This record gives sequence, structure tokens and C-alpha cells, in this order.
Amino acid sequence: MRIAIIGTGTVGSGLARAAVSLGHDVVLTAQHPEHATKVAEDVGARAAATAAEAAKGADMVVLAVPSTAVAGISDKIRREVERAIVIDPTNPLEPDLSGVLESTLSVAEEIAVLLPGTRVVKAFNTVFGGFLTQPVVDGVQLDGFYAGDDAAAKTAVAELVAAMGLRPIDVGALRAARSLEHMAFLNISLNARKGLSWSSGWKLLGDVGEPAG
Ligand SMILES: NC(=O)c1ccc[n+]([C@@H]2O[C@H](COP(=O)([O-])OP(=O)(O)OC[C@H]3O[C@@H](n4cnc5c(N)ncnc54)[C@H](OP(=O)(O)O)[C@@H]3O)[C@@H](O)[C@H]2O)c1
Repeated sequence: MRIAIIGTGTVGSGLARAAVSLGHDVVLTAQHPEHATKVAEDVGARAAATAAEAAKGADMVVLAVPSTAVAGISDKIRREVERAIVIDPTNPLEPDLSGVLESTLSVAEEIAVLLPGTRVVKAFNTVFGGFLTQPVVDGVQLDGFYAGDDAAAKTAVAELVAAMGLRPIDVGALRAARSLEHMAFLNISLNARKGLSWSSGWKLLGDVGEPAG
């Protein structure tokens, strides 16, 4: 699969490393092209100069950027992602991590409005970047929650989530991304307020249903 990752920070680089190790063709881009080049060299991916160039021909496009950058990037990739699955791992937080940015819609739903006709799936936002290549805490496999409106797109993302070592959990329609963004904030704010080591992760116990789309 060809996967474009826009943003090469903690999340983008972690996802890139995991996807390359699974044999995917990964293309990276960042705001500063030299950052993408550096990470691409580190993980064995390719770098592209612009988001549009990275997204062209991709099966999946991951927006691993601050939520505030999503609208501008959407304008640049709109024509390139008509047939792609757009994965949204963002969390719309205040810069000091003190709260969730006020909005009626989740970022994932906003992306669906910005990119009409594109299949958007919320995924990876509840997993701290350090766990993307090894999603295990105290010997327990972390959960990878995802939400979306397109069953086939969710199945494809669930397969990627599972291949990366997370247990995929389908939480429903894209609207459920609102819950996922608040779940992520709960864990983030716990670590930020208490000065913890960012080593906690989400695990749901009991029957969680089938991990299908
Ligand atoms: N950190 C985590 O553990 C974690 C976990 C789950 C979800 N998230 C969410 O995932 C997203 C990324 O988080 P992060 O921690 O990886 O952030 P980060 O380390 O700050 O990296 C952000 C990346 O986005 C790029 N970027 C910013 N504006 C851009 C634009 N207009 N066009 C192209 N690239 C742009 C930056 O490019 P440059 O490198 O050139 O500056 C950088 O590579 C955020 O929404 C965050 O809330 C984070």
C-alpha cells in the first residue's frame, strides 16, 4: 500500500517507521521539507517537497499535524485525495494542553466537510507517539480505537492498526471521533498535569465486539 504521511513529528515519524517495517511504500512531507528528508532517511521512506506531491496516488493519507493546520493542508491536497482514505490522528488541544479547543464537530468531521467525498477515518489519536512502533504497556497490548462512516475504509484502517500491533476497536461512525478526541485529552492532561512519563495507554476490558468496519 502507498501511504502518504503529512507531518514528520512524533506521530508522523512513529507511523512512518511502523508502516515501512510492514513493507508499505511510505512518502513523507512536512512544513520544512528538510525535516521530512531527515525522517525519511532515518526510517527508510521517501520524502516529497509538498503535501500535494506526497498525497498524489496514495491509498492512505495521514494528517499527522496540529489540528490547526488541517484546513490549510486540505486546500492543498483536495484534488489528490478523492480516492484515498484520509486518516486523522489529530487532537485539537490548547497549545499548553490545558483543554480541548472549542468546536461542535470533531476534527475528523471537519476534515470530512473540508474534503467532500473523501473517506475519513479517525485513528491513532488515543495512542501516545512512543507506542506506535511497540504498542505494549506492562505486557498488555494497547487498543487502537477508530471511527468512520465508510465500512471498507474502516476495514482497511483496522488492518493497518492490527498489523502495527494494536488491538483495533471500531467505535462507530465518524461522529464518534468526538469521544476519541476527549479520550485522548484525558490521558494527555493526566500526564501533563502530574508530570508523568507519557507511558500510559488505553485498554478496554471485556467484550468489545468484532474489529471490522
Ligand atoms: N505526540 C503524541 O503522542 C500524539 C499522539 C496522538 C495524536 N497526536 C496528535 O497528532 C498530531 C501530530 O502530533 P505530533 O506530536 O506528531 O506533532 P509534532 O511533533 O509537533 O509534529 C507536527 C508535524 O506537523 C508538521 N506540520 C505542521 N504544519 C504543517 C503544514 N502546514 N504542512 C505540512 N506539515 C505541517 C510539522 O512540520 P515541521 O517538522 O516542518 O515543523 C511537523 O512535522 C497532533 O494533532 C497531535 O495532537 C499526538
